[in-house]
Amino acid sequence: MTTGNFEKRILCIGAGYVGGPTMAMIAAKCPQYEVTIVDINEARIKAWQTDNLPIYEPGLLEVVKQARNKNLFFSTDIDNNIKKADIIFVSVNTPTKTYGEGEGKAADLQFWEKTARNILKVSESDKIIVEKSTLPVRTAHAMERILDANANGLKFEVISNPEFLAEGSAIQDMENPDRILIGSHETESGLKARQAIVDIYANWVPRERIITSNLWSAELSKLVANAFLAQRISSINSISALCEVTEANVAEVARAIGTDSRIGPKFLNASVGFGGSCFKKDILNLVYICEHYGLHEVARYWESVVSMNEYQEQRFVTNMIKVMFNTVAEKRIALFGFAFKANTGDTRESPAIHVTKNLIAECAQVAITDPKALDNAKLDLKDIAGNIEFTENVYEAAQGAHAIAILTEWDEYKTLDYEKIFQSMEKPAFIFDGRNILDHDRLYKIGFNVFTIGAPPRKHF
Ligand SMILES: NC(=O)c1ccc[n+]([C@@H]2O[C@H](COP(=O)([O-])OP(=O)(O)OC[C@H]3O[C@@H](n4cnc5c(N)ncnc54)[C@H](O)[C@@H]3O)[C@@H](O)[C@H]2O)c1
Repeated sequence: MTTGNFEKRILCIGAGYVGGPTMAMIAAKCPQYEVTIVDINEARIKAWQTDNLPIYEPGLLEVVKQARNKNLFFSTDIDNNIKKADIIFVSVNTPTKTYGEGEGKAADLQFWEKTARNILKVSESDKIIVEKSTLPVRTAHAMERILDANANGLKFEVISNPEFLAEGSAIQDMENPDRILIGSHETESGLKARQAIVDIYANWVPRERIITSNLWSAELSKLVANAFLAQRISSINSISALCEVTEANVAEVARAIGTDSRIGPKFLNASVGFGGSCFKKDILNLVYICEHYGLHEVARYWESVVSMNEYQEQRFVTNMIKVMFNTVAEKRIALFGFAFKANTGDTRESPAIHVTKNLIAECAQVAITDPKALDNAKLDLKDIAGNIEFTENVYEAAQGAHAIAILTEWDEYKTLDYEKIFQSMEKPAFIFDGRNILDHDRLYKIGFNVFTIGAPPRKHF
């Protein structure tokens, strides 16, 4: 099938947070392959062709520039590129269903299914189809049913290669992954297709870190990885609530338990809660699948991870209102950070959205600052009628505020001139550190009333 000077033609359908960075990395590491990324979103494709990429990710632009227009191309011509491809990664979005059966829990697979039908319609040669999107276990089975319905005897082999990158450190994660997971049928053609995908990653990933499995284990492992990660956050957050009423300190507890090698130190930072497009969606998807198979106790167990997160977000904002003398009406409140985590502009499911909506419902004036996420913040809040201001300047956001809430753990918030900020604020001045990143003793000495997650407050009254 392949023509020109390239060994293989790789196509990725979906140029988002996953498709863009993963394919840019493959292109940069494998100059022998031609890599094309297509999307229905024209503006996104255009942006990938400029230096103002559609997503912010440290180091991404350098990787894109290394390969762009050499062996990495962006296009909206989906059909022609499907025809030419040997291997098609599908990285379209799989959000939670907002309608019908499974509403609010199941994955909405309409974008995936449309893509599969389109591949079937336009293909003229055999292809390997790679599930890069996060999908419910056994999705490949449904996809094969669609793809096998072709009249001209073409063979499509479906492979699962879930993506484990974390936004904010995607380039590092892909350059040096803990593991790459590739699942396939364990038939002769399945194993051959699996090997073709192993061969791509083996260009830069040590072979022992490329794990292979059956299709269903690979599909399920992605959901389970996210469920376990989120569960650690919800577990430590649940303990933070107990710390606040017992004078224990959650940071000390996390340190004490994290040094146990069976537990480990990662993902034990208590906070205002987890966000991001994946954790909640993937857990609810897991819950839905468990319910489908009649495993109601298992479903309830994982669902509690999501409800604990909702409790934590709500607890944070309820506490803000309570300590500010039970009213924030007409008070200016500065929110430092809107992205769901540092080093990304992504705001999907960010706790900041929940906090803002609650403060606006209480008639507060909200000033939002973030180094990378203001455009997305404006979109998230466009339907909220209220007094909301956006500024990249943190000092301007804090000017005249009664309170500051730290909602994203951006490094730059640790080294601000908090003396100057304190001077510019209304008194008593409050700071609510929703990410536990600041020097609380110092802030207290400056004069702030300091509220953190999982430790007793330091207040001057
Ligand atoms: N964001 C993450 O950190 C992350 C990590 C691991 C896995 N995932 C999974 O990867 C998948 C993609 O996530 P994302 O964050 O990149 O989503 P995204 O919304 O940023 O990107 C998806 C892209 O697919 C495009 N698309 C939708 N239907 C299409 C079609 N029929 N043809 C062509 N393009 C189409 C959309 O226009 C969009 O640009 C999801 O399943 C997600 O769960 C995401």
